[in-house]
Amino acid sequence: MRFSTKALHAGENRHLYQSSVMPPIYMTSTFVQEEPGQGEYEYTRAGNPNFTILESTLAALEDAQYATVFSSGLGALTALLSSFKSGDRVVALEGLYGGTYRLFMQVFQNFDLSIEIIPPHDFNHLKQALRGACLFCFETPTNPLLDIYDIKALTDLARSQDVLSLVDSTFATPYVQNPLKLGADIVWHSTTKYIGGHSDTIGGVMMTNKKDIKEKLDFARKALGVNPSPFDCWLVTRGVKTLAVRMDRHQANAETLATYFQEQDYVKKVYYPGLSIHPGNAIAAKQMRGFGGMLSLDIDLPTDALKQWLCSLEYFKLAESLGGVESLICHPATMTHASIPREERLRLGISDQLVRLSVGIEEVEDLIEDFNKKAPKLNTALT
Ligand SMILES: Cc1ncc(COP(=O)(O)O)c(C=O)c1O
Repeated sequence: MRFSTKALHAGENRHLYQSSVMPPIYMTSTFVQEEPGQGEYEYTRAGNPNFTILESTLAALEDAQYATVFSSGLGALTALLSSFKSGDRVVALEGLYGGTYRLFMQVFQNFDLSIEIIPPHDFNHLKQALRGACLFCFETPTNPLLDIYDIKALTDLARSQDVLSLVDSTFATPYVQNPLKLGADIVWHSTTKYIGGHSDTIGGVMMTNKKDIKEKLDFARKALGVNPSPFDCWLVTRGVKTLAVRMDRHQANAETLATYFQEQDYVKKVYYPGLSIHPGNAIAAKQMRGFGGMLSLDIDLPTDALKQWLCSLEYFKLAESLGGVESLICHPATMTHASIPREERLRLGISDQLVRLSVGIEEVEDLIEDFNKKAPKLNTALT
């Protein structure tokens, strides 16, 4: 099966679907057992047919042997981190989603999991840091600066040091990038985003080819209670059917807008891996199919005028999250990345003038028309 055929059919299971074309929603907390302790499913915190259907679909799309779905992207990371113990060390590359940073620094560090977040370009520092670590984790493309990391080179390095590697591939989706094929041990997605695709559900998934990791993740889901609801899994199963066609349109619209913004005098810098001037362009071309639907901009406006401009747009709704069919715009400094201390945020390049766009699948001419109409007046610009 090819990608979209898998998205539609890989999760089909006659035994669970019975005669229906679409999967039933198994809204039940518990299941009748054939004998005490014997039954395909027992209790929805531990497993449910809607988890199975979604997991088979997502594993097929990522060409992974195993998938475990969770209540949210951060629920999935919580489950994975809970399998380590006090004193273990996690190494992560800079450029993490704010919630990932918060979970590392404000939660798991309090349980004596040591977390080291290091800059990506110092190879020797990274090699040293990986020595004796239990997990190496990075995002690519990163949120919100759209940096691109070389998945093969980095996961090869982790493997050479016997360290498990985890790639957050949420911005790319399984349609655009497959980290397991490039050497990662675990790929992580927030299914809240493109995979669900309609901004109507929260969920997460970890996928791997390693049975022991799958077993740990299943155990953690049941033990911690970070399971999704059957209905949320059903929504994601429905949403993911159109992932390929949506991503083609998201990517085409984002490429058009990235080029458009390069010409606008109120835009100081465009961050989009599809632009030839982007430092990660060659690696992105090698490891991705397309350059994704996210882009960020440095806007030449004082903060108050910038906030007004953000609220004035018709189609780009000011909201957190990304990957839905509708366009969204956000201000990372006060929204998605507010949990990173200001000084650290500025050091990372996430300025108060940075905005992040999740480009939807509207007609791109309408999006451009709106930006043309709402273009900030130059006399309010900083310079
Ligand atoms: C790149 C990335 N990873 C992980 C997450 C966390 O996912 P969730 O919000 O589903 O917990 C997010 C959420 O915005 C994200 O953008």
